[in-house]
Amino acid sequence: MAIIALVSAKGSPGVTTTALAAALSWHRRLVLAECDPAGGSILAGYLGGALDGPRGIGELAVGELRDGSLESTFWSQLVDLDAPRRERLLLPGVVDPAQAGSLVPLWQRFADYFTGLERGAPPYDVLVDCGRLAVGGPPWPLLRAAAVVLLVTRAHLPDLSATRATVRAIERDLTEHRVPPGNLRLLVVGDGHGTSEISKVLRLPVIARLPHDPRTAEVLAHGGTVRANRPLMRAAGALEVPVRALLDRRRARLAWPGATARATAPAAEGVPGAV
Ligand SMILES: Nc1ncnc2c1ncn2[C@@H]1O[C@H](COP(=O)(O)OP(=O)(O)O)[C@@H](O)[C@H]1O
Ligand SMILES: [Mg+2]
Repeated sequence: MAIIALVSAKGSPGVTTTALAAALSWHRRLVLAECDPAGGSILAGYLGGALDGPRGIGELAVGELRDGSLESTFWSQLVDLDAPRRERLLLPGVVDPAQAGSLVPLWQRFADYFTGLERGAPPYDVLVDCGRLAVGGPPWPLLRAAAVVLLVTRAHLPDLSATRATVRAIERDLTEHRVPPGNLRLLVVGDGHGTSEISKVLRLPVIARLPHDPRTAEVLAHGGTVRANRPLMRAAGALEVPVRALLDRRRARLAWPGATARATAPAAEGVPGAV
């Protein structure tokens, strides 16, 4: 498919939880890349720190800066989320946010490399956890390279007002960088305002709404057995469908000459029940 980036405005609406839930139920080969400059949490949390040594994007960055070894070491830095199949792989994030500075000059390099994974043999989708934009040095090159950007938000007023400003900031940046329009969508987590109301007020379609499911979220944060029939896993598993539909529509539209200006998005879309 391509790069699918998840990001939030501020706070902790559930970007990592959502990305992990989606990754565990993805139907195609997938790399989940933790590119949150504030640090990754899946290795220490969901995977219980079960590794013999440091692994992840921090190690890749060190190697790439030292001797350009990103390509030769990439696959050895991944953790198999459902071993031994190597179909759903995790690229763990930095452990110490202080390390994040070393990533800044490399975001474009990672973006290019991730884009190439879609054309690999076998091809991999890349789901990128970009963390929140409120922190300094967000991985903008990854958002610009993404075929789909999912802005994760809770549905209460303070979250929505921060998200509204972020929608405009992302739209502005993508326009400035000549990214064709129509790839930004809202992904709403939990209870609160209605989905169609959110979509209307923020002037951006909601691609899906994930249920408040603290039991599953707890397992995804701290480890344990993830049950596929839990509400969060079912909704996360269904997310791939509208994402793929959006990609297909976008590709078809981009095949038309002249489809370059960012347009105002339609009011609502998504899986049945999402709007
Ligand atoms: N769908 C959900 N239902 C219930 N709790 C959730 C859900 N998604 C996330 N959470 C909880 O919200 C908190 C923040 O989630 P996290 O994924 O770490 O957010 P972020 O990555 O945006 O900082 C965690 O305690 C997590 O367990
Ligand atoms: Mg997170």
